Amino acid sequence: MYHRNSYAARKYACMLTIFACMLPYCAQAQDGPLDNQAIVQRADHLLSEMSTDEKIGQLSQLFYFGPNINNPALSPEMPIEKAIAEGRVGSLLFVTDPAVINRLQKVAVEDSPHHIPLIFGFDVIHGLRTIFPVPLAMAASWDPAMVTLSQTVAAMEARSVGIDWAFAPMVDIARDPRWGRMVEGAGSDPYLGAAMAAAQVRGFQGPYIGAPNHILATAKHFAGYGAAEGGRDYDASYISDTQLWNVYLPPFHAAVKAGVATLMSAYMDLNDVPASGNYWLLHDVLRQDWGFKGYVVSDANAVKNLQTHGFAKDQEDAAVRAFTAGVNMEMAIGKTAYDAELPKALQQGLITPTQLDDAVRPILEMKLRLGLFEHPYVNVARSQRILADPSHHVDARIAAERSAVLLRNADGLLPLKIASYHTIAVIGPLADSQRDTIGPWTFDENLPETVTVLQGLRNAFGSSATITYAQGAQMQRKFPSMFDALSRVKKQPIWTPAEAQQEIDKAVALARSSDLAVLVLGEQQEMSGEAASSDSLKLPGDQEQLLRSVAATGKPLVLVLMNGRPLNIKWAAKHVPAILDAWYPGTEGGDAVADLLLGRAVPGGKLPFNWPRDVGQVPIPYAHNLTHEPQNQERRYWDEASIPLYPFGYGLSYTTFSFSHLQLDKDTMEWNGTLHLSVDVTNTGNVAGDEVAQLYIHQEYGNASRPVRQLKGFERIALAPGQTKTVHFTLGREQLRYWSQALHDWTFDPSTYDAWVGGDSTAELHAKFTVTK
Ligand code: NOJ
Repeated sequence: MYHRNSYAARKYACMLTIFACMLPYCAQAQDGPLDNQAIVQRADHLLSEMSTDEKIGQLSQLFYFGPNINNPALSPEMPIEKAIAEGRVGSLLFVTDPAVINRLQKVAVEDSPHHIPLIFGFDVIHGLRTIFPVPLAMAASWDPAMVTLSQTVAAMEARSVGIDWAFAPMVDIARDPRWGRMVEGAGSDPYLGAAMAAAQVRGFQGPYIGAPNHILATAKHFAGYGAAEGGRDYDASYISDTQLWNVYLPPFHAAVKAGVATLMSAYMDLNDVPASGNYWLLHDVLRQDWGFKGYVVSDANAVKNLQTHGFAKDQEDAAVRAFTAGVNMEMAIGKTAYDAELPKALQQGLITPTQLDDAVRPILEMKLRLGLFEHPYVNVARSQRILADPSHHVDARIAAERSAVLLRNADGLLPLKIASYHTIAVIGPLADSQRDTIGPWTFDENLPETVTVLQGLRNAFGSSATITYAQGAQMQRKFPSMFDALSRVKKQPIWTPAEAQQEIDKAVALARSSDLAVLVLGEQQEMSGEAASSDSLKLPGDQEQLLRSVAATGKPLVLVLMNGRPLNIKWAAKHVPAILDAWYPGTEGGDAVADLLLGRAVPGGKLPFNWPRDVGQVPIPYAHNLTHEPQNQERRYWDEASIPLYPFGYGLSYTTFSFSHLQLDKDTMEWNGTLHLSVDVTNTGNVAGDEVAQLYIHQEYGNASRPVRQLKGFERIALAPGQTKTVHFTLGREQLRYWSQALHDWTFDPSTYDAWVGGDSTAELHAKFTVTK
C-alpha cells in the first residue's frame, strides 16, 4: 500500500500536466477549457433574462449545517430550500454529504426561475477525507510540487462529493505566532508565501478552471489579517504601505497571477478601514492594478460586521459599502444583508443595475466554466470510491514526511536503530490523540483511520519492541473553542492535582523501565486556528514538568512536537537530544513520524519562520533591517539573546551538506537584465537526503533601507551520499524591485547587492554584484 516510487511518478506527472495524474477519473467532465467567448455570451444572456431579485440571490452564500444542528445560532432564519427555489441563494457552504448536495442542487436546477445551479463551497484547507499536514507544515516542506499534489488530491475528494470551491489557500503572512491562524498559512516570508500560494492554487484548480476533478480556490483573507494587534484574532491590523506591498500582499498577487478564481475579504480593519468595505484594496489594488477577473466573497458575516466596526451606519449602508467596494458575494449565517438590503438600495439609486450585473457576471461565469449547468449532480458511489482511494494515504504520508523539521539531533540519536530498543515508552497527551494528529480545520475526516504516533511506532517496530503508553499530562483551553459545537470528540474530565501528579509519576516510571522514551508534546489542535490566539508560547498544561521529569531519568529521549506555531522549547533545545517537529501531520501522521524516527525517511523540512525563544521576542522576522550597532544585534534585550532559537530556513538531516562554487555569470547587471547564479550542493554524509538550497540577498543602499536578508530563490533537491548537484537561480527586476515609502511607489535601485546561498537564512557562502542603470 505504501509505494514511494508511485508517489514520485504521480508528483512528476502532476508537475508536467497537473491533471495527468488524475487520468483514471477524467471521464465525467469536459477535457479542455470551455470556449471563453461562449461563456461570456451565456452569462450575458442569463443576465438579460434574470430578475433583479434573482441577480441579488446569486450574491448570497449561506451556511447549511443540515436540519439536525442543535445550535440555534447556526440555524438558518429562513428555510433554505424555499430560498433556493425562489432563486435567492447563489451558493451554500458547509455541506459535505453528496446526497444532500444533490438534493439541494436539484431544488436550484429544477425549481429556481432560471435553473441556475448552486456552487458549493467548503473549508478544504488540508484535505477533505484524507487529511494532509496543516498548511504551515506543508510550507515547511519547501516543496511546491508536493503541495500542488496534496491540494490536487484534496480537490479530487472535494469535487467527488459535490464541493466545487475551497476556501483556501490562506496566504496571510504571519509574523506573530500568538495569532492562532498562523497554522493555516505559509509562515512569515513573502517569497516562500508566494510560492506556496501559487502551488496550492495550481493544486486546487488544475490546469484551467473547470478541469476534471478540480475546484475553485480562494486566496484569503484579503488583506493584512495576519498582522492583528497583539496576535488577537479579528483585531485590527495597522500595516504601513511598505510592509503591505513588500510583505503582506505578494502572496495574494502570486495567487492572482496563478489564476485564482476567488478571493475572500478579511474580517479586520486594515488601517481603520474594514477589509470587507475597502474600495482601495478590492478595487484599486485587486482589480485595477492586478487585473483580477474572478469574484470576491466576504468572510462569514463580514458584510454585516461593517456596522459592528462603526464603519457603516446600518445594515443597508453595510450592504451598499461592501458591494460598491467590490465584495461580489456575501457569506453569512441565516440571511445576508445583500438579500435584505440591495433591492431597496437599487430602487434608491445607491447602486446601479450595471453594477449589479458586473457583480453577478463573474459568479455565473465560474459556474459555467465549472460545467455545473451541464453536470450539476455528483455520483455518490463514485465519490465513495474516490474517498477510499488508498493512493491518497500514500500521498498524505509522504507529505507528512517531507514537512517534518528535525530541530536537534545530538550525538546522532536519530535515526533509531531498531535492534537497540526492545522496550519503548511513548508518552504525552498528543501521542495517541487521533483528533490532534490531524490538526485544526478538518470537519469531514475519517477519524478512526488516523494513525497516531503511538500506533505508527507500534506498526514500525512490530514484535521487535514492547511499546507502552502513558498520557502523562493534560491541557485545556481556558475558554471553549468556537468549533466545540461541530466536534464529535468527547472531552476528557479534568484531572485533580493529585491525579495529575500520579500521571507524571506513571510516565516517569514507564520511561525508567524502558530503553527509550518518545515524548509527543505540543498544543492540542484546538489551540491553533480561528479564534485560537495565545498569550504564551509555553507548552500548555503540565507538559514542561512532564518533559523535565522524564528527561531526568537519563533515558535516551526523543521529543516529537505537534504544533501550529513555534513554542518555547528553550529548555528542551539544551537538554533533549533529539527534537522532531511533526506539526499536525494528518491522517498518516503516526506512520510518517515512525518512518522519520527510524530513518526510513530522512527529514528535509525547513522552518518557514524564525523560531523565537519566548513570546517576548515576537515578532522576530529574519528579514529585519540593519540599524544602529548591528554588531550588537544579539544583545537588544538585557535578559535574553535577541536572536531566534532557530533561524528561518533551518532544519537538520541525517546527513550533511556542503555548498561551494557560488558563481555569478556577471558582476554587474544591467538594469533591464538578469543575473544567473549557480552553486554546487554536495551530500557529504553517508545516507541519501534532501537539502533546500536557499538564496538570500541584501541591497546595500537605495531608495529605502532594505532587510538584512531576503529569500529570493530556493530549490529542494535529493542527493545520494557523495553526490553533487548544481542549483541555478535567476535574479532580475521582478525579484529585486520593492515598494519604497520615500517614493510612494515601486523602485528598482542601481546598487550593490550581497548574495548568500546555503541551507538556512544564516548561509555564509557569499558573493557581491552591482546593478547599474
Ligand atoms: C471564517 C473564516 O475566517 C474563514 O477562513 C472561513 O473560510 C469561513 N469562516 C468559512 O468557514
